[in-house]
Amino acid sequence: MTIPTLLTEKLAAALQTALGEAMPADFKPTVTPAQDLRFGDYQSNAAMILAKQARMNPRALATQVVEAFGNSEIADLDIAGPGFINFRINPAYYAERTAAMLQDERLGVSVVEKPKTLVIDFSAPNVAKPMHVGHIRSTIIGDTLGRLARFLGHKVITDNHIGDWGTQFGMILWGWKNILQQDELEKDPIEALLAVYKEVNARCKEDESLLPICKSELVKLQSGDAENLEIWQKCIAVTKTGLEKIYAQLNISFDYWLGESAYNDALAPLVEDLLAKGIARESEGAVCVFSDGFHKPQNDPFLVQKDGEWVPVPAIIRKADGGFLYATTDLATLDYRTTKFNADSIWYVVGAPQEKHFKQIFDIERMRGISGDFRHVAFGSILGKDRRPFKTRSGDTVSLQDVIDEAISRAAQVIETKSPDMPAEEKARVAEAVGIGAIKFAELSQNRMSDYIFDWEKMLALTGDTAPYLQNSYVRVRSIFRKVEGEFRAPEKLELVQDAEIHLARLLVRYAEVVPATLDDCRPNLLAAYLYELAKAFHSFYEACPVLKSEGNTRETRLALCELTARVLKQGMGLFGITMPERM
Ligand code: ARG
Repeated sequence: MTIPTLLTEKLAAALQTALGEAMPADFKPTVTPAQDLRFGDYQSNAAMILAKQARMNPRALATQVVEAFGNSEIADLDIAGPGFINFRINPAYYAERTAAMLQDERLGVSVVEKPKTLVIDFSAPNVAKPMHVGHIRSTIIGDTLGRLARFLGHKVITDNHIGDWGTQFGMILWGWKNILQQDELEKDPIEALLAVYKEVNARCKEDESLLPICKSELVKLQSGDAENLEIWQKCIAVTKTGLEKIYAQLNISFDYWLGESAYNDALAPLVEDLLAKGIARESEGAVCVFSDGFHKPQNDPFLVQKDGEWVPVPAIIRKADGGFLYATTDLATLDYRTTKFNADSIWYVVGAPQEKHFKQIFDIERMRGISGDFRHVAFGSILGKDRRPFKTRSGDTVSLQDVIDEAISRAAQVIETKSPDMPAEEKARVAEAVGIGAIKFAELSQNRMSDYIFDWEKMLALTGDTAPYLQNSYVRVRSIFRKVEGEFRAPEKLELVQDAEIHLARLLVRYAEVVPATLDDCRPNLLAAYLYELAKAFHSFYEACPVLKSEGNTRETRLALCELTARVLKQGMGLFGITMPERM
């Protein structure tokens, strides 16, 4: 049990004693980490909230609560300001917790009591279209959420819902037949298909007669033409091969690749079913879902305000020409996941511009009586240093492969300067870990909803909240152990005396709180900020407290703190899919 959970339980009991009958039955006090450590480690405003409800003096209630809490081995309590209760954790308790962590592979992190079956939908690039920076964010955030959820004991299914059935295939098919160079395709399939798509697109703009020809290729594909189906399958196959290579480099994998096309046969019956149930209806030849008036207009995803009036924005699920849409596929996909995978949670890691789409999808599910923990895990954009959408010099969207290549080559320079004598093979391995780590950490240390600036110098810096800084911290800890003679043996008892020791222990113990909180809010930046704090605390500790030159229990304690720091850094970064080299 984490310290805040423990304190919450004891606090609830103390509140009950102090308030008696006046304690509201459904009240659960919260205990949060203190902003300012001078006042303690944790604090709670529960007495203030309840005093207000019971029309009592908040400080008086807080005093009674502290009395009822009694002497505890865990913490000393005091009251601050208008009635905050502060908890100062006893160093001896931290010593006990850290000693337990040394024996625990999970480093204090418990598995959840009620595991969920969670589908995570992420990455999902579109075949023959560029995998752009938005997909980078989704790929990295989604992978981390999957790792966190698995670690916490959920049953996780990762699914790459690639866009393999879009209208782009009209142009691709024509381009494949008329302009594609097979050798280009073999060299770099993703780039070759993209080039074809761009070329045909440009030609369509010049020559009006071409677009209808491309459209007819698409119609042929959709009606099952053998030649076009074969080309389409090849496009998917080569794209998958290209993507697999990128994912392998990123150390990311999927349990399923159920792209949009996997649901083709489910679309027509789904629309019929929604029509039959009266959830959808025809409008101007199309089939649409309109608002059912369940929400207030301002929360209704089927309404927008225009000139002071609420006007309908239906979800179109079948076009007048009989074609199906993105929304139709997503409804069918959700059905599949809830029935075939038995998912109770489905999280979609997709950019913020698709907010309305997902709100409508989830609301249609509500109308159908299908409920679950369906979440749109949204994120903002990546900007260039000029604060405009991140583009290449020529104005193209930046490809993920290019970003990876550049990161690794820049990291190689960092390693070259730092450790010129390292064997070449190790240099290459470390550069890969550092380069890819840098991209991932730059992403994960941001609040996902904000836009962030893609800045090579910053993300590869050896100081600040970067992967290289954390990797280097880990390397420093590990290097201490190379100087210790014999195996490190965990001491039975730690003795925390110096402030820097206590503070490092405090942070180490907090790992158990941070990991679940990170998943609860789908906010990897919580864990990233924590790991950065931990590394900084380690450096302060290492400056203030000699490790190898100390003796006896002090030395054992300090070595144990080093050991735990290394383990937490490695495991925590591992939850981000970032590798920690032993030397760099
Ligand atoms: N392929 C889509 C895009 O690139 C993302 C798909 C996200 N997943 C989903 N189930 N809609 O925008």
